[in-house]
Amino acid sequence: MSDPSSPGVVLITGAASGIGLATARRLAADGARALILLDRDEAGLQALGDELDGGPALFLCRQDVADETEWEGVEHGIRHHWQGLDAVVVNAGISEAGPIADLSLAAWRRVLSVNLDGAFLTLRAGMRLLRDGGAAVVVSSASAIKAEPGTAAYGASKAALLQLARVAAKEAAPRGIRVNAILPGGVETPIWRTMPFFADLVAETGSEQAAFARMAGFATPLGHYARPDEIAGQIAFLLSNAARSITGAALTVDGGYTL
Ligand SMILES: NC(=O)c1ccc[n+]([C@@H]2O[C@H](COP(=O)([O-])OP(=O)(O)OC[C@H]3O[C@@H](n4cnc5c(N)ncnc54)[C@H](O)[C@@H]3O)[C@@H](O)[C@H]2O)c1
Repeated sequence: MSDPSSPGVVLITGAASGIGLATARRLAADGARALILLDRDEAGLQALGDELDGGPALFLCRQDVADETEWEGVEHGIRHHWQGLDAVVVNAGISEAGPIADLSLAAWRRVLSVNLDGAFLTLRAGMRLLRDGGAAVVVSSASAIKAEPGTAAYGASKAALLQLARVAAKEAAPRGIRVNAILPGGVETPIWRTMPFFADLVAETGSEQAAFARMAGFATPLGHYARPDEIAGQIAFLLSNAARSITGAALTVDGGYTL
């Protein structure tokens, strides 16, 4: 990296919401030179672009991470404008729950397509574009290492992602590039709104905050879920020079859920 104290030029997928949004805010505050923000949610991206206006250079890409053809344009654009990347945050993901016996192949493929194919394409672009000494963080999940009924597709995608990150770490190490995974347990983000039981829980408890507290009470020893800005801080650390000897690691951030 040209300036080890700055995050430099950073690509973040799934930047329009939740952990990706918080990471974009955090890296902008940390002095990133440019943020390439990618999401399929155009309105969300635009809102973030407006918010960060006057900060780092921005490149907003409305794109499906799992669409290989669209990556060509993104890679070309990054090479043209910034000649490469200093950091990549492989974050976009979706969740669909259901017991294996009832899981359709279409649902299985939807999850694998975004969470694994999309992550592979993001990481591949990163391996091509990262400058020597750069870093990547892959957002996996505690579901990669803890089995729960109903999480077959999601958990399998996140477990595969963990190994993808470890292989990438070994491949990239000769260039001083580091690749780490982060494994959050519950995080208070909109991803939960895609799960039917969450709406019921919000109705029952009276608010999303109360629903998160109820869920954390079941199986998280610390008794609370993480806020997205906490995960963003941990991602910023893994990308920073303070983590220069950490690669191939899996940082579990789950309030003790996997203990
Ligand atoms: N929230 C949690 O409890 C939790 C726990 C562990 C891991 N994670 C992981 O964190 C990551 C971020 O999730 P979040 O909780 O911030 O969710 P979120 O729903 O708030 O944000 C996900 C973002 O990814 C985008 N996205 C989804 N599919 C996409 C695609 N095909 N192409 C481009 N963009 C796409 C969405 O539009 C959204 O902006 C995911 O990989 C998720 O699996 C979340």
